[in-house]
Amino acid sequence: MRKMVRLVSTLVVITSAAWLTACSNKPVTKEAPAAKADPAVVAAGKAIATGRSKGNCLACHMIEDGESPGNIGPPLLAMQARFPDKAKLRAQIWDATAVNSESAMVPFGRLKVLTDDEIDKVVEYIWTL
Ligand code: HEC
Repeated sequence: MRKMVRLVSTLVVITSAAWLTACSNKPVTKEAPAAKADPAVVAAGKAIATGRSKGNCLACHMIEDGESPGNIGPPLLAMQARFPDKAKLRAQIWDATAVNSESAMVPFGRLKVLTDDEIDKVVEYIWTL
């Protein structure tokens, strides 16, 4: 009887070890890394964002190597950490007043200051910051 008990407990140990190994060997399903933004689109977005005649984001925001930045808005950096959801970043740029009705930021999409295509490019650029 004792042998039987030992046999059963050995089997239990072996099965659970096998089970644990099987589990830990499972491929870790990582989220696919965010697709690398197209450098041409990012460059076009940068031109729009930093150009004084279009986005003119520099009037209010500090952007890495941008010249004479304003400080009315927060510096645009660590954007992916602060906006993991790119759609939220786009929404902020499309119409900042949707989040903050008192926002000093131009509602670029709502007022058609920038086209949807231009905003998409700006978003791609800002997301690299
Ligand atoms: C007239 C000033 C002004 C201009 C021009 C402006 N912004 Fe803003 N922006 C702000 C202010 C102020 C805020 C702070 C939040 C608010 O009040 O809406 C802000 C917030 C933001 C945020 C959110 C930042 C955060 O940390 O939450 C982003 C992203 C942003 N702006 C991007 C842009 C981009 C891109 C442009 C150019 C296309 C731009 N802004 C142009 C004033 C401006």
